[in-house]
Amino acid sequence: MESMKSKILKQLAIAYLSRQDYVSGADMAQDLGVSRTAVSKAVQSLATAGLPIDSVKHHGYRLAFFPDLLMEPLLAAAFARKNWQAITPQAHAFASVDSTNLAARRGADVGDPTGSVYVAEEQTAGRGRRGKNWRSAVGEGLWFSLLLKPDLPPERLAPITLFAGLCTVAALRDWTGLDIQLKWPNDLVILPDGRKVGGILTEMLVEENQVAAVVVGIGINVHTLDFPEDLQAIATSLDLAILSSETAEKGHPLNRIELLMAVLAEWDHRWPQFQAESLESGIDLAKVSWLNDYRAICATLGRPVEVHDANGDIWTGLAEQIAPGGDLLVRRSDGEFIQVSAGDVSVRGLLGYH
Ligand code: BTN
Repeated sequence: MESMKSKILKQLAIAYLSRQDYVSGADMAQDLGVSRTAVSKAVQSLATAGLPIDSVKHHGYRLAFFPDLLMEPLLAAAFARKNWQAITPQAHAFASVDSTNLAARRGADVGDPTGSVYVAEEQTAGRGRRGKNWRSAVGEGLWFSLLLKPDLPPERLAPITLFAGLCTVAALRDWTGLDIQLKWPNDLVILPDGRKVGGILTEMLVEENQVAAVVVGIGINVHTLDFPEDLQAIATSLDLAILSSETAEKGHPLNRIELLMAVLAEWDHRWPQFQAESLESGIDLAKVSWLNDYRAICATLGRPVEVHDANGDIWTGLAEQIAPGGDLLVRRSDGEFIQVSAGDVSVRGLLGYH
């Protein structure tokens, strides 16, 4: 059940986002059916926990700024501000969790609806692709998973990982002004040096050949300033990239809830198109409009790649195209086209050999 503190924080967050001024303690007390003293104590305890609450006699309370804390009342207030068209995000926030992908799977098991979003300040067992760990320290990033229950057969959902990459990169490019691109299939890299700033891990829960749910896990390094030595040359964060960029907007510190909203808004906007195009059979490559948008921000296309395939063979070629199902078409030096699937191989490009 939502505690009184959560309700108060949500009200203050809604008031902040709708540019209302102070919310009176008396009004909140009446709304919540408690005494003014109870409201005042709850506010004090929120302030002690680090929330930036101003209180002014005879006026009431307000948030001094929208805090960069991944708390459910703040997320719920932000989600409630938007008129969603295709997804209806519902927030589940954790101070610490094993992995938000696992939280989403557990959510799916207990019947959480499509559009549920699981966000954590810290993951203790964050997971990357190909069984790797994903470093997810407290407060440093935006680690979240989106649970969806689309009415599409499993084979039509294969490109959802690329679609997730497109939504994330489109949102982050707009928000930061950085030249963020995708290293196929879905590593978020920042040009010109190609360091990785984020990644996506999609998991499909299939029952009797039907997709029961899809979990799209997105990890973005936002505030990290120090990476362990083995990652320093290949990883970065949005804050670090903005600091060293000549063109990015430096005025406002990044707020992870705003970034999350931007990614979800992009998803909401593009999702009907993805679903409609996934249902058409024999679709012409040129007509898949979201895939064209993906191509425009894919750093791999047109570049030489080194393919490490499932048999342990390594070969090189030129990445020329992306097939409607999301496979990469690579032209080998002998001229032959090879269709490379994301699940089977790792592709190493000029940028970031990982
Ligand atoms: C990659 O290897 O590039 C994919 C990284 C995906 C990390 C995100 S963080 C949120 C979600 N929860 C996880 O355990 N992994 C994904």
